[in-house]
Order: sequence, then structure tokens, then C-alpha cells
Amino acid sequence: MNEGLLKRYSFDVAANDFIMGGKGSSTIKNLLKSMGIEANVIRKIAIISYEAEINIVIHSCGGKLHCDLYEDKIVIVSEDTGPGIENVELALTEGYSTAPESVREFGFGAGMGLPNMKRYSDDFEIESDSKGTLIKVTVLL
Ligand SMILES: Nc1ncnc2c1ncn2[C@@H]1O[C@H](COP(=O)(O)OP(=O)(O)OP(=O)(O)O)[C@@H](O)[C@H]1O
Ligand SMILES: [Mg+2]
Repeated sequence: MNEGLLKRYSFDVAANDFIMGGKGSSTIKNLLKSMGIEANVIRKIAIISYEAEINIVIHSCGGKLHCDLYEDKIVIVSEDTGPGIENVELALTEGYSTAPESVREFGFGAGMGLPNMKRYSDDFEIESDSKGTLIKVTVLL
């Protein structure tokens, strides 16, 4: 597993923490910039990692965001400790959202996070049950 992994950067993501939520993805963006990664790749990774991180903040009990570097790809891994996504296919539909009113007033809840993560990826894997959600999103270099 994880054959060829060169380096993993990991960030804790707390549920309901809108102050720290977004820190992980912005740190990833800056790290990749400092490494001289292509701007187009950084743009995709920034969107994918931000949407994954904010989903952990809004929809989960907390988890972790990882940025895995390989020779030929970057993989963003999001894992949380539940409660999981009841219907993954539905959750991947544009416009579907269970975001509460309290976060909609801050502009979240368009139901575009997962569809955009998939759209900007070269490979998208998602597994979810009541114990948690695991998402792996690959962007080729
Ligand atoms: N980590 C997660 N844990 C549990 N449910 C999730 C998780 N991520 C997404 N979901 C579910 O999938 C739905 C769709 O997610 P998506 O990111 O596309 O939209 P959103 O977060 O509701 O709104 P937006 O991302 O546009 O602000 C969410 O409303 C939620 O029901
Ligand atoms: Mg979202």
C-alpha cells in the first residue's frame, strides 16, 4: 500500500472549527508553491483539499487531511471519524447538500464541494460508513 510514497503531510481537522478550518489546505498550497509545482496542479489541489477540509469541519466529527507526494502524482486523502455519508451517489450530485442553515449564511452548502473535487481530479475514490468517510483524490503531475 502507498507504494512509491515520497512524503506525507498531515493536518488535524476539528469539527465545527471555522477559524482553523482551511489552515491545512492553505498550508498544503504554500508547500506546493515553495516546491515549484506547476500552477495548474496547485490550483486543482487547492480546491480539492479546501473542499475536503471544510466538509470535515461541517459534516463530520473531525478527522485528518493528508497530502501525499509521489514521483508522478499528488494524492489528497481525507479521513474522518463519522457519521459517514448515507447515500454517496446522492452526495456526489451537484446541488445536493445537508448543510445546516447556520453554515449556509456563511456561503457554504451549495452542494458543489464533492462534485468539484471529482471534477478536478484524475482519480476519485470514496468509501463511507457510519464509522467514517475516506476520500482519496489524485492529481497527476
Ligand atoms: N466528510 C463528510 N462526512 C459526512 N457527510 C459528508 C462529508 N462530506 C460531504 N458529506 C455529505 O455530502 C453532501 C455533499 O457534500 P458537498 O461538499 O458536495 O456539499 P456541501 O458541503 O453540502 O456544500 P458546499 O461544499 O458546496 O459548501 C453534504 O451536504 C453532506 O451531506
Ligand atoms: Mg462541501
